[in-house]
Amino acid sequence: MRMREWIAENIGYRFFGCLYNKSHDHIFDFIEPKIPKDFLHRNIFDLGCGDGTNTVRVQKLFKANEIVGYDHNNFLLKRARKKGLKVKKFDFSKSLPKGEMAAFTFSLHHAFDKEKTLKTAVKKFKYIFICEPCLDLYHWLFDGGEPLPKEKWILLFDEALKKYLIYQYKNNLIVFYKKVKRG
Ligand SMILES: C[S@@+](CC[C@H](N)C(=O)[O-])C[C@H]1O[C@@H](n2cnc3c(N)ncnc32)[C@H](O)[C@@H]1O
Repeated sequence: MRMREWIAENIGYRFFGCLYNKSHDHIFDFIEPKIPKDFLHRNIFDLGCGDGTNTVRVQKLFKANEIVGYDHNNFLLKRARKKGLKVKKFDFSKSLPKGEMAAFTFSLHHAFDKEKTLKTAVKKFKYIFICEPCLDLYHWLFDGGEPLPKEKWILLFDEALKKYLIYQYKNNLIVFYKKVKRG
């Protein structure tokens, strides 16, 4: 684990939760009208759910049938549980659960191997929703994970997802992927 990630995981998240997501309403306001209808009313696995603030936003916007948050950080899982969310301890860099819809909000850029995690998600889920930041000066200086520059995210999405819907809002890429049966 990199030094910055260790500080975030053990000091930042422990004492402050996920501070940055307190101001994410405008991002989700952008996302809401873009959600394809068939992404609504799904069973959602929120992978890297953090303190659950964005899990609650995803739950509402996607009118989730059920939502479960997965994270490896005990301090954050405790905070998410206090919001009334169902959560499970899980390391998405090792494996992924199997289900209907996966959500990665500001978490995929923390995966040890983003390509492997995303390709595994494609195998295990029918729907995938992604909202990830692009590398910029702020993230380069302060992020505990490793966001990619926009063009590298696109290369990764093309490689792992092939066909998908993508939007950009400020510095964030928003992706909707649905598995299509071939033949
Ligand atoms: C920037 S936070 C995003 C949290 C939340 N999704 C949000 O939108 O606010 C990144 C989250 O990914 C989690 N995370 C990082 N690596 C992980 C891993 N290997 N397995 C599970 N969770 C992980 C961190 O603990 C943290 O909660």
